[in-house]
Amino acid sequence: MSEPPKHLLIVDDERALREAVAERLADHGFVVEQAASGEEAIQRIAGFAFDILITDLKLPGIDGRQVLEAALERYPDIVAIVITGYGTVKDAVDAIKQGAADFITKPFQFDALLHVLNSAMEQRRLKSENAYLRSQLQERYRIDGLVGRSRVMRDLFQLLEIVAATSSTVLITGETGTGKELAAKAIHHNSARRAQRFLAINCSAIPETLLEAELFGHVRGAFTGAVANRQGRFEQAHKGTLFLDEVGTMSPALQAKLLRVIQEREFERVGDSHPIKIDVRVIAATHSDLAKMVTEGTFREDLYYRLNVIPVRLPPLRERRDDIPLLVQHFLQKLSSELGRGPATMSQEGLRRLMAYHWPGNVRQLENVVERSIAFSQGRPQVEVQDLASELDTTPAPDSPELSFPDEGVDFEQYVSNVELSLIRQSLVRTSGNKRQAAKLLNLKRTTLIEKLKRLEPREQH
Ligand SMILES: Nc1ncnc2c1ncn2[C@@H]1O[C@H](COP(=O)(O)OP(=O)(O)OP(=O)(O)O)[C@@H](O)[C@H]1O
Ligand SMILES: [Mg+2]
Repeated sequence: MSEPPKHLLIVDDERALREAVAERLADHGFVVEQAASGEEAIQRIAGFAFDILITDLKLPGIDGRQVLEAALERYPDIVAIVITGYGTVKDAVDAIKQGAADFITKPFQFDALLHVLNSAMEQRRLKSENAYLRSQLQERYRIDGLVGRSRVMRDLFQLLEIVAATSSTVLITGETGTGKELAAKAIHHNSARRAQRFLAINCSAIPETLLEAELFGHVRGAFTGAVANRQGRFEQAHKGTLFLDEVGTMSPALQAKLLRVIQEREFERVGDSHPIKIDVRVIAATHSDLAKMVTEGTFREDLYYRLNVIPVRLPPLRERRDDIPLLVQHFLQKLSSELGRGPATMSQEGLRRLMAYHWPGNVRQLENVVERSIAFSQGRPQVEVQDLASELDTTPAPDSPELSFPDEGVDFEQYVSNVELSLIRQSLVRTSGNKRQAAKLLNLKRTTLIEKLKRLEPREQH
């Protein structure tokens, strides 16, 4: 398979030299663009992710150092070669300290430039290959990090490998603690982007007003407090993978902007009008039901289909209880070696208890329970059932409805609605009908409580 052509920008105010070099570089298979000034160069760099920059250091106006700086700020991986005048080696050294790959002194033969360029690219290739080898070691850990032996998990591992080989957008769904982030990392580390960055951002953890700048960057003066230009996560993840966690919480405006990046691979920084081209794989995750949000009109349908090109669902732990012994073993090993202890085991009775529990917090909760049980076992080689946390007692709390399961089955939706309504009623009774306080008791948004009431009450009447 032949490599895609490299995009190169050459910056020099000496037209004859610039054009001659550009022409010969094009003969050698580079896709070449030219800039006659620092200003023009910076403008081009802002709009396009070049692989290679060749710039004269001495330019009228904005000089080569500033061009270099602008390029490296956006694209840390760009291969930059600077052209220096005779007897200005110090400038060249400074440029290399700044991040240039190499330099060449004027006047030069084209072949000398080609040589410098080829070895700089080779260096870069080796660097990312080393990073790749390193990541393969980690990858083994990462893949091992996602433990599972059940049918669903083995199918999932296979799917993750297939997905990794594509550059398609992925939507990972699953309850809290099911391993969505681990799965996203596994995709990245198995993909061709493995030597590049994996960046994660939790959309629900950042206030709406800051999220846009966080994702897309901003220019100086874009808003109060924007004292300098800043790259967003999309730019930082160029050529790599961006993990957008809790994508369901994005505002409609941001959803629109995200759709555009995914569709057109370009965006503008906040406060700027220059489109920036970008090559980023997006992996989104959510624990909410996006399809439902689409029908309710709170999530864009077009964005949903763009994200959901390859759906990856992480099953809750209670749907794969046969993974529990393996996971327990995995965590016991990991945690006891972290504590510098010999390997501990779980008693059979302890395992039975763990396998009977319904795990609302899934694997994360299991890990926490195992961690605490090791502490309680006080160095004994076997963890006993009494070392397990009391949260595993499956008897329902006094106020909750009896969660028995009739032989003939239940109408799931109706049953759950009844539970919801009962909780809301009790909270309203306790707060004398104050919805704000009731919502607080339930750890719900007030608007959510009101919506639920509206939805649940009429159904109850028939
Ligand atoms: N299959 C698994 N094997 C081993 N560890 C796992 C597995 N799934 C999850 N974990 C562990 O559980 C914890 C939670 O995983 P992760 O952060 O990927 O979950 P998540 O689905 O992103 O959760 P949330 O929705 O709360 O963000 C981590 O400590 C992770 O190591
Ligand atoms: Mg997560």
